[in-house]
Amino acid sequence: MRAPRVFIETFGCQMNEYDTEVVRSILKARGYGFTDSADSADVVLLNTCAIRENAHNKVYGHLGLLKPLKEERGLVIGVLGCMAQNLKKDLLAGDALIDVLVGPDSYRALPDLLEQAVAGRKGLAVDLSEYETYADIVPDRIEGVTAWIAVMRGCDNFCTFCVVPYTRGRERSRNLIGVVREAEALAASGCKQVTLLGQNVNSYQDGVHDFADLLGAVADVRGIERVRFTSPHPKDFPNKLLEAVADHPKICKHIHLPLQAGSDRILELMNRTYTRAEYLALVDRIRRRCPDIVLTTDIIAGFCSETEEEFAETYDLVQKVEYHSAYIFKYSERKNIIAARKFADDVPDAVKAERVARLVELQRGISLKKNRALIGKTVEVLVEGDGKHPNQWKARTDGNIVTVFPKTGDGIKPGSLLPVRITDATVTTLYAVSI
Ligand code: SAH
Ligand code: SF4
Ligand code: F3S
Repeated sequence: MRAPRVFIETFGCQMNEYDTEVVRSILKARGYGFTDSADSADVVLLNTCAIRENAHNKVYGHLGLLKPLKEERGLVIGVLGCMAQNLKKDLLAGDALIDVLVGPDSYRALPDLLEQAVAGRKGLAVDLSEYETYADIVPDRIEGVTAWIAVMRGCDNFCTFCVVPYTRGRERSRNLIGVVREAEALAASGCKQVTLLGQNVNSYQDGVHDFADLLGAVADVRGIERVRFTSPHPKDFPNKLLEAVADHPKICKHIHLPLQAGSDRILELMNRTYTRAEYLALVDRIRRRCPDIVLTTDIIAGFCSETEEEFAETYDLVQKVEYHSAYIFKYSERKNIIAARKFADDVPDAVKAERVARLVELQRGISLKKNRALIGKTVEVLVEGDGKHPNQWKARTDGNIVTVFPKTGDGIKPGSLLPVRITDATVTTLYAVSI
């Protein structure tokens, strides 16, 4: 009998991408094979996200597409990840298509549950753990020049809009040595850039080492040329961390600093634990210590009871800080979050959409201005692979800005780190030539 073939589709954040690699590793060890389409699969797994309504809708849409395959040839369907964890039995009861439901801390149970499912028994594993970090599992990565390493999991912050503390459970960190060993193994296989991941990555703490120690140790690994991290919380930015970012040449000068809102009342309702002034002081401290830093952010528009004046404070803050880029979202009420229990989701959808549109417009202007300011400059980029056109390379600057440049047949390959001269720029992309 041939090995059953699995197709995994991943939604959501980088942590989910990483978890898919962990799941592949767990399944491989139990004899499963993989395929890259549902049509040729025996098992389809959707690794899901619950962060906003549209993340849910995408998954329901994909489940609908799988229905004919299930009816034709008894495909086994599993829902993994944050949506499985948040909706639990509701999801299983609501959809006859789903055979297996597994939350982010229960992937070790997946092979057994799949075996049961083949025998016709539905199963779920949605226990959250205080300890699970999958530290002993080597993720089954698609080999390349960049890789993710999850260094901590979970979140204890309980921002009132956010489902993550419920889908990912409590914070826990892997130990530094394990992470460094993993980075060394990656370097040995040709990887040049490592991104350290955690829902709240800068609250990393293994009992002895803090996040600055970890960043420095990974950046010291020979062969690793660049280290990134995401996502940090503004509350955990001691000078020691800032010094590490500023001083270590291999730690990228890019900080994603989620703002969420620019009004003190809304920040308080969100339980972000900083004020507008504190946030601005942090931006100032970062820029003074590290003038070349590229700052990016996340913003939510239309949170419960947000007034036009309060929104204007967010708008004003974006104008003041001038982020290089920003992810801007409409507030989306989720099951289980604190805001759903405490506040009314009372900003009309059209108002949320209009606020998002205004911010996006503002940010596009700022992004274009910042990118255009780089025209004529020489910057170092890491080549990741082909661009949209096969005669172009896609690379990134130290600040994480996508840069494309023509292939010239001069020994450049994925993993090359080289200076290029910027010749043109759009809102999202720099165009360059190698020099
Ligand atoms: N742990 C990270 C990111 C979590 S989710 C952090 O703390 O920064 C990524 C982003 O999704 C958040 O920064 C927030 O801007 C957005 N988000 C989270 N919950 C949301 C909700 N209910 N509605 C809209 N956007 C949300
Ligand atoms: Fe969610 Fe806040 Fe935790 Fe980020 S810090 S994952 S936004 S609860
Ligand atoms: Fe989504 Fe879970 Fe990531 S809710 S954003 S997949 S942590």
